[in-house]
Amino acid sequence: MNSLGPEDVAAIVVAAGSGVRLGRELPKAAIEIAGVPMVTRAVQAMFSGGATRVIVVAPEAWVERFEQFFPTYGERVSVIPGGLLRQDSVRLGLEHIGEAGIVLVHDAARPLVPPFIVDRVIEAVRDGDPAVIPVVAEADSLRRIRRSWTVAVDRSTFLRVQTPQGFEADTLRKAHENVGDKEYTDDATMCEAIDIPVVTVPGDSLAFKITEPMDLVLAEVIARGES
Ligand code: C5P
Repeated sequence: MNSLGPEDVAAIVVAAGSGVRLGRELPKAAIEIAGVPMVTRAVQAMFSGGATRVIVVAPEAWVERFEQFFPTYGERVSVIPGGLLRQDSVRLGLEHIGEAGIVLVHDAARPLVPPFIVDRVIEAVRDGDPAVIPVVAEADSLRRIRRSWTVAVDRSTFLRVQTPQGFEADTLRKAHENVGDKEYTDDATMCEAIDIPVVTVPGDSLAFKITEPMDLVLAEVIARGES
């Protein structure tokens, strides 16, 4: 792969999860939505939103198959094998971003993220925020679990966190070096653990994560409506 310079925006698209919760044999990211694999849609969104390179982190046994999902991008996309946890997959991706100044981390499981969200995150990092996350308000009432009972909480004090999350590359590297054996659900939380302020930008409901079978149905309807 050509080397990456400080002006590059490298996107790590994590796609190494299984499809267990969707009840499929196929890795989740390989499932097609309106005829296009989820991971291909995610990569397209990264480029349309301003990424200059994409590193796709795939399940180990699926790397060659995944390489066939990106016939038009040539060396701008590389596919590498992932790790056990999401954070392992991101760390492996970080080894391939060269000198890129900005890094995005995006879930392949959010294939319909609008490119303007990708652009918004990149611009915020470019403007000087070292860690940027897209967020949306919570629509449901929320309750906190307390042993055998639950208590209502004020939902207006909570936000739902989406991806892509954007970082100064050195900041994310440092955050990953500090992880140890602690498990994190996202990269911004790791940055916070080393006292990096996390800045929010408005996300979008189309950046929803495909987790349950019903999410696939919804994504299919949306994608067909757009094509
Ligand atoms: O499991 P979950 O939906 O939270 O995974 C979020 C994203 O992280 C998915 O796109 C999944 O493919 C990716 N992942 C990964 N490596 C793992 C586990 C999850 O790349 N070991």
